Amino acid sequence: MTENHQVSVNRYKNMKYNRCGKSGLLLPAISLGLWHNFGFADNFNNSREIIRTAFDSGITYFDLANNYGPPPGSAEEVFGTILRKDFSAYRDEMVIATKAGYLMWEGPYGEWGSRKYLIASLDQSLKRMGLDYVDIFYSHRFDPETPVEETMMALDHIVRSGKALYAGISNYSPEQTEKAIRILKELGTPCLLHQSRYSMLDRKVESGLLDVIGSGGLGFVAFSPLAQGVLSDRYLKGIPSDSRAAKAHFLKPSFITPELISVIGKLNELALQRGQTLAQMAIAWLLRDERVTSVIIGVSSASQLAGNIRALENISFTGNELEKIMALVTTVSFNPRG
Ligand SMILES: NC(=O)c1ccc[n+]([C@@H]2O[C@H](COP(=O)([O-])OP(=O)(O)OC[C@H]3O[C@@H](n4cnc5c(N)ncnc54)[C@H](OP(=O)(O)O)[C@@H]3O)[C@@H](O)[C@H]2O)c1
Repeated sequence: MTENHQVSVNRYKNMKYNRCGKSGLLLPAISLGLWHNFGFADNFNNSREIIRTAFDSGITYFDLANNYGPPPGSAEEVFGTILRKDFSAYRDEMVIATKAGYLMWEGPYGEWGSRKYLIASLDQSLKRMGLDYVDIFYSHRFDPETPVEETMMALDHIVRSGKALYAGISNYSPEQTEKAIRILKELGTPCLLHQSRYSMLDRKVESGLLDVIGSGGLGFVAFSPLAQGVLSDRYLKGIPSDSRAAKAHFLKPSFITPELISVIGKLNELALQRGQTLAQMAIAWLLRDERVTSVIIGVSSASQLAGNIRALENISFTGNELEKIMALVTTVSFNPRG
């Protein structure tokens, strides 16, 4: 790896940019998430190569959270180091997002949705990344014990203070989302977007959430589009020792059942008939729906990233292909927390 990275002059040639709801912000159809593979426990040069490949491919949106690592916080530090080394001249070409909601530090103020936690957490995130502001700050999960008004007032304050340019929410139910949208609108800081899990294997957002998001004028970004790697050829011949199922605790080997793999094998054949890999077809399947602003992928290598981006070459499906996919995915259940 060279120490001096020259960014590609062609970086905006092949990426598609979608308007985020009714806002002024455009997001790349494919974004990069740093949940895995960017902690101190991971290989720094590999992480750096992934970010370089992403930026050179037109990926402008980088998705972080306070707790990404391991250890928690280290993904933000690693990302900050890569920014300083390779992209200090390119901050204005990036949309950098972080979140707070899950456990980050000991005691009563280290998780959930209080003003105390959210504001302190963002200050910590900014220090770790070496930034003055993030582009998007999310409430990472709804807090049933804190008045949603307090959480939204904290987001409004954060945006007005200039520490974030936009506010977002993640993992809120349709009813919680409706409330959040209304309160933020009243406060004068519109909710930019909602981030939720969505893939062929987890279509819960189709039962109400996408409608609420659409009528609220929000953007929608889908995470874990490959069901953490299951929607690819990764597990067709067993569980490789370097895979997420073998290494990380959010995807357990016991989730990869023979029934699931039988369906994955058939989806893989369908993808090959379309001239795509299964990973590409899984991403394309999400992007065919115009309600999906961006799909946030995770990758463990730059080559996975380069392959996945080529999903954009074909995001249209015939009715027959869509029916075949539905007929297959509705025969299995797969729903790990992540
Ligand atoms: N808001 C939330 O609560 C929340 C929750 C989860 C995630 N997210 C966001 O969404 C992002 C993406 O989530 P995710 O990492 O679960 O996404 P994903 O794209 O479903 O899974 C990524 C994993 O799939 C495997 N993979 C990727 N491309 C592949 C290919 N071409 N062939 C074979 N395997 C491939 C890799 O695992 P291997 O290690 O096996 O190679 C990779 O790390 C996160 O980084 C985070 O930013 C947000």
